[in-house]
Amino acid sequence: MSSKPVLISGATGLVGKRLLQCLQQQGVELRALSRSPRPAADTGPPPATQFYTWDGFTPPTQAVRNTQAIVHLAGEPIFAGIPTRARRLRMRDSRIQSTRNLVNQIAQLPADQRPATLICASAVGIYGDQGENEIDEQSSIFKATPEPMGNTFLAQVCRDWESEAARAEEFGVRVCSLRIGIVLSRAGGALPRMLLPFRLGLGGPFGRGQHWVPWIHLDDLCGLIAFAIQHSELRGPINAVAPEAVRNLELSHTLGRLLNRPTFLPVPPILLRLVLGDLANELLDSRKIKPARAMAAGFQFQFKQLEDALVQELRPRP
Ligand SMILES: NC(=O)c1ccc[n+]([C@@H]2O[C@H](COP(=O)([O-])OP(=O)(O)OC[C@H]3O[C@@H](n4cnc5c(N)ncnc54)[C@H](OP(=O)(O)O)[C@@H]3O)[C@@H](O)[C@H]2O)c1
Repeated sequence: MSSKPVLISGATGLVGKRLLQCLQQQGVELRALSRSPRPAADTGPPPATQFYTWDGFTPPTQAVRNTQAIVHLAGEPIFAGIPTRARRLRMRDSRIQSTRNLVNQIAQLPADQRPATLICASAVGIYGDQGENEIDEQSSIFKATPEPMGNTFLAQVCRDWESEAARAEEFGVRVCSLRIGIVLSRAGGALPRMLLPFRLGLGGPFGRGQHWVPWIHLDDLCGLIAFAIQHSELRGPINAVAPEAVRNLELSHTLGRLLNRPTFLPVPPILLRLVLGDLANELLDSRKIKPARAMAAGFQFQFKQLEDALVQELRPRP
């Protein structure tokens, strides 16, 4: 890697924290953006990280200058409570306006002080419901119509998010938008939320559980981000999902088996829709997605099989 620093937004989140550790182990100089001037010691970045305060709504002036890459992960969590109108607005603005401000700031810099690469988070939600189709970043169905993907709230947010990020290409910056699947980690995100009902014997598939669920282990996601910083042949949308998608039913049965708990109680889709409104689509839509670009570039997944990823995360630790 270049000797210039890597700047990470959302560095106090699930992915950001692990990414900081991962890049620090590779000897990379790190900068972080966060809304909190001093995150608590247990959630904050490693000590060597240079820290900048940023809420996404102002230009992150000094932090961006002379970096080798920016990894933009910040965004209001999608599944943290009832999706009120105000929260939906925050979900959107915290991603799209912040990306716009980052790119505007990049544009202000002299060319020799701009980052070579912008890696921006996105999500598999962009694909909407694809049923049994197996898709990758370049599937022919996406060439058939101008807006072939999902038409949900999150799909639209992801489309706009990717478009804002792609503007950095105009300023000589290579842009990768990572379409991230469900990130599996005991440290946060979906898995800890699933564990409680499953441990109580109340876990089960969503509906009939026939829909395909794209997932990725946290270590593979961080590995892929580090890989994308180094591999200049990668650009544009990149599916950040494990090579083996599973049906929701298999996810539920595997988790139940590993926890030695029954999984015969399905969660009715109507209940999910009552609580989450249209965001329930993110849990019910079917996406059988291949990480074609990552694999073609030679990225080696550590966790290709769901069971290996779950065993790793459920293993007791000292
Ligand atoms: N985890 C998944 O399963 C998953 C799947 C698909 C896509 N993604 C996307 O990948 C990115 C990283 O995911 P993650 O799981 O690490 O997220 P996360 O744990 O929720 O962390 C996101 C970070 O964004 C910042 N943030 C939160 N609300 C914000 C707001 N209203 N305005 C500005 N910043 C805000 C916070 O940092 P500070 O408090 O330090 O500012 C937080 O640490 C997110 O954009 C997420 O949508 C994640």
